[in-house]
Amino acid sequence: MRSLHSSSATAAPAVIVIFGAAGDLTKRKLIPALFNLEAQNLLPSQIAMVGIDRVAMNSDTYRQTMGSDMASYVGNGFEQNLWDDNVDKVYYMPGDFRDPDSYQQLKTLLLEVDNEQGTPGNYLFYLATPPSFFGIIASELARAGLNEESEGHWRRIIIEKPFGSDLQSARALNAALHESFEEHQIYRIDHYLGKETVQNMMAYRFGNGTVEPIWNYRYIDHVQITVAESLGVEDRASYYEEAGALRDMIANHLLAVLSIVAMEPPNSFDADAIRDEQTKVLKAIEPFSPQRVLTDTVRGQYGEAVLDNTQHLHAYRDEPGIASDSKTETYVALRLKINSWRWAGVPFYLRTGKRMHDRYSEVVIQYKHAPNMMFRGALKRHKNVEPDRLVLRIQPNEGISMQFNAKVPGTEFKMSQVLMDFDYDDYFEESNTASGYETLIYDCLCGDATLFKRADNIEVCWEFLQPILDVWKSLPPRDFPNYPAGSNGPEEADDLLARDGFHWKN
Ligand code: BG6
Repeated sequence: MRSLHSSSATAAPAVIVIFGAAGDLTKRKLIPALFNLEAQNLLPSQIAMVGIDRVAMNSDTYRQTMGSDMASYVGNGFEQNLWDDNVDKVYYMPGDFRDPDSYQQLKTLLLEVDNEQGTPGNYLFYLATPPSFFGIIASELARAGLNEESEGHWRRIIIEKPFGSDLQSARALNAALHESFEEHQIYRIDHYLGKETVQNMMAYRFGNGTVEPIWNYRYIDHVQITVAESLGVEDRASYYEEAGALRDMIANHLLAVLSIVAMEPPNSFDADAIRDEQTKVLKAIEPFSPQRVLTDTVRGQYGEAVLDNTQHLHAYRDEPGIASDSKTETYVALRLKINSWRWAGVPFYLRTGKRMHDRYSEVVIQYKHAPNMMFRGALKRHKNVEPDRLVLRIQPNEGISMQFNAKVPGTEFKMSQVLMDFDYDDYFEESNTASGYETLIYDCLCGDATLFKRADNIEVCWEFLQPILDVWKSLPPRDFPNYPAGSNGPEEADDLLARDGFHWKN
């Protein structure tokens, strides 16, 4: 549950100020994460939370509202006593994010909280708001002097994706944040980096002597990264219509996973050493020409389907709030190359989609065949010897498996693929309790930025994606919907791999 970096010490004393305190993210993820941290004794006694939002209510009402839902959002580990014992550390103030007066009131309230709770003036500002408020809140905090780090106390700001919607807006957002906060104070969340299984990829690659020597073009044939979701757009129509799968998933989560799979070993376990390597490998992705956008990208949108003769799944265009001629993609597949010595000639295939057959996120490393197939003669009748595959399962069924060939017992020389499997559940009890937010909030309180995105990382992702956005915009899709809900995505995505002689591992 904690990042690779952190020890089990309690986090630094601080007040966590949540902008957007009446919203869904706060209720579903942030307060439950704080609760889980408290339950694991990872928070110091001098800790408090101040919620701020437009809704008019006082701290008592806020505590009651949050308390009534907490049992369901925290799940099995919820302890009413623990909530009751800590609820007086939760404060609320109504405020308008654009109004400078609200920030003066916040400043006064923070001094009161520091007095009451013994917190030493460390403030963590969590912006659980629409992104259009990021720049405004940052600059109003600065105007009120709440960005200033002096006398040994710190001020940090957390924002969560989307970090812009293209290269230009991402640069503008970084510039706006840097006017008010220094880079070391800014913590950008990609919740995939908070996932245990994503962090474990670093442990697997760099903590084992057997992995790195064959983690390169000499042994690896190609890499597949899949984040498949079975749910549709749900109730996020207005956001998703503007975003689409490329911005919503590829620009952050999939490229984050790619950077961990493909980066060079960092020289140290220092946050910037790791983030330097991640950014470096993203910069090494071969830029897409307009021609390559046409050949090496696939976009899709789900159409209606009936599953098992019973379950009717709506087309994206029939979902509430979606335009009946929407051109928004709910599926993306890409084929990309990384221009480095390690990865020369190794294709990376990325795909993500909503309303796919299953919900699963995984990385498949497909190894090359043995250089001299001495069994070929003996295997004539069973010609398809499957290549070895390493599968890093991010979710669900978190774990790692290796598929390799073994001899089928008997007089005939026959081979069959077998599986060596590691499941988190078999080894670690605490594996499935955390949402990822626990780790990220804890790390931010500790000042450990390893799992957070740096400004240059965000911009390099958009630099790579911008040609795709441009070509897709100038050539609107004409075949949407092009995959049925509940399927494995559009046929063109299968063709993308078939051209290279591969197929998706579904
Ligand atoms: C979010 C996207 O960032 O990640 C959602 O906005 C997506 O559209 C979600 O459903 C997936 O996250 P997870 O952790 O459920 O795989």
